[in-house]
Amino acid sequence: MRHETIEKSVNLMMVLIVLAVSVGGLIEIVPLMVSPEVTEPAEGIEPYPPLRLAGRDIYVREGCYNCHSQMVRPFRSETERYGPYSIAGESVYDRPFQFGSKRTGPDLARVGGRYSDEWQYVHLMNPRDVVPESNMPAYPWLADRLVDPELITTKMRRLQMLGDPYTDEQIANAAAEVEGRTEMDALIAYLQELGTNPRVRR
Ligand code: HEC
Repeated sequence: MRHETIEKSVNLMMVLIVLAVSVGGLIEIVPLMVSPEVTEPAEGIEPYPPLRLAGRDIYVREGCYNCHSQMVRPFRSETERYGPYSIAGESVYDRPFQFGSKRTGPDLARVGGRYSDEWQYVHLMNPRDVVPESNMPAYPWLADRLVDPELITTKMRRLQMLGDPYTDEQIANAAAEVEGRTEMDALIAYLQELGTNPRVRR
């Protein structure tokens, strides 16, 4: 009887749906905001040093996430191919996170150290030079463009404001660390550390 009343009144039904969805949503979302597993860095996870931070932004700018995920799922087929499955605490300094779901290419969450810097360089200049059947685009311009030291300093200051534990000294030294480095250097530095934290290294 009561059910019939609700079903016959569009307004009442709408209000009750909004209520149900809000309560359900809060129950799902709020624990994630306070749970240390999700909000605190996993062992060995630190805010990105300047060159890697620049590399991460180039990764985002070039849209690498359109073809590469960075999340090893907790299934045997995944962990045997890529390594230990990803946990939230590995991504606390990723704004925005790069989990992704599109895998035209392999997952990159554990790619750090899998190849040499030289391999990464040749591969990014022209993937077909090392993987003949590859359909990944080439990114040769990265080798010609320099990282902007001032921009990195500003970014680190802003991230510090958001709560990333950079020291003032790290920020003061940032410009010198990226001076004269190409975007290619930065992107390779970023890739070569992916998934090399202690949890994964063991
Ligand atoms: C159009 C899709 C596409 C885009 C965009 C793309 N890739 Fe790829 N990537 C692939 C494919 C396919 C492969 C596998 C073949 C190969 O190794 O080239 C691959 C392989 C790789 C590998 C080797 C992974 C391994 O485990 O063997 C790395 C590293 C990589 N890509 C980095 C990047 C970076 C960095 C960018 C952005 C600058 C990027 N990719 C953009 C498709 C893409």
